[in-house]
Amino acid sequence: MKRTPIIAGNWKMNVDVAEASLLSEAIVRGVTKLPSAPHCEIILAPTYLCLLPVREQLIKLGVTLESLQSTPHTPPSLDKDANTDANREPMHKDATADNTKPMPTNVQNNTSQNNPARLTTYPKYYVSAQDVHWETNGAYTGKISVSMLKHLNITHSLVGHSEQRAHFHESNTTVHKKVEKLLALGLTPILCIGETLTERKSGNLKAVLQKQLNSVFTTIDLEVLQKVVVAYEPVWAIGTGVSATAADAETTHALVRELIAKATTAALAECIRILYGGSVKAENARAFLKAPNIDGVLVGGASLKADSFVSIINCLS
Ligand code: 13P
Repeated sequence: MKRTPIIAGNWKMNVDVAEASLLSEAIVRGVTKLPSAPHCEIILAPTYLCLLPVREQLIKLGVTLESLQSTPHTPPSLDKDANTDANREPMHKDATADNTKPMPTNVQNNTSQNNPARLTTYPKYYVSAQDVHWETNGAYTGKISVSMLKHLNITHSLVGHSEQRAHFHESNTTVHKKVEKLLALGLTPILCIGETLTERKSGNLKAVLQKQLNSVFTTIDLEVLQKVVVAYEPVWAIGTGVSATAADAETTHALVRELIAKATTAALAECIRILYGGSVKAENARAFLKAPNIDGVLVGGASLKADSFVSIINCLS
């Protein structure tokens, strides 16, 4: 089946509000100048402070900016009958939909609704948070809830990034709670997984990935799991300039898909988009994007310069 590619930029703790508007404008203008419109989803993940400014900039530039109403990635050929796996653990039931207030009109994007033709127009742009908290509100100083993102029509959030796991005690348990809440409120989680060099060298790659994947894929309703995007980011490749080879990444992506199939169904695993991340740049992106199980890239450093990010997008052509 054909999976729509994703090129995502994780700006991490870089780029202030003014720079974020300029960077998103430069990316859009760069993409517009490409010889042909790339058939992909472009996701920009700035800091919380920049989510709205980036969204507003994209709206101003008139790109196809997806809203929550139009965001679900509903794979056309998911065999519903194949989705009953008696061996699966019961799904968690505690994620209840919030009564989210309507968005202020000045941040609403009605692009798709006002102009239905645009629904099929690629590239489609999305704005993503880099993290989120699973509780709706309360005494969680410094945190942002899924319903707060939803209120601003933010469609995606990264979850379980290795920097969160390494520096802020993110565990597979908290990852599960975040993904469950995002899905319950209709947002798309970008589930980041990946092994450290020590784990890889000690032969634990499969076990580590399986544990990270199972925390989500064995515990949540199959119907909503279709929406999850997985980002395989080997920790040793992040920010080091040393990426996996495309062949190595393809082998691991095939393994990730196999593990998802084992946890769910083969049909669902075929629909899930799996991105590669870790020192992706214009020079190596094409090889990753050509691999059959690599459905896009999650770019850190090289997404901070419009030229390099646009060159990566152009590698789809
Ligand atoms: P780099 O592209 O800078 O290695 O970062 C990858 C990453 O962590 C994206 O989430």
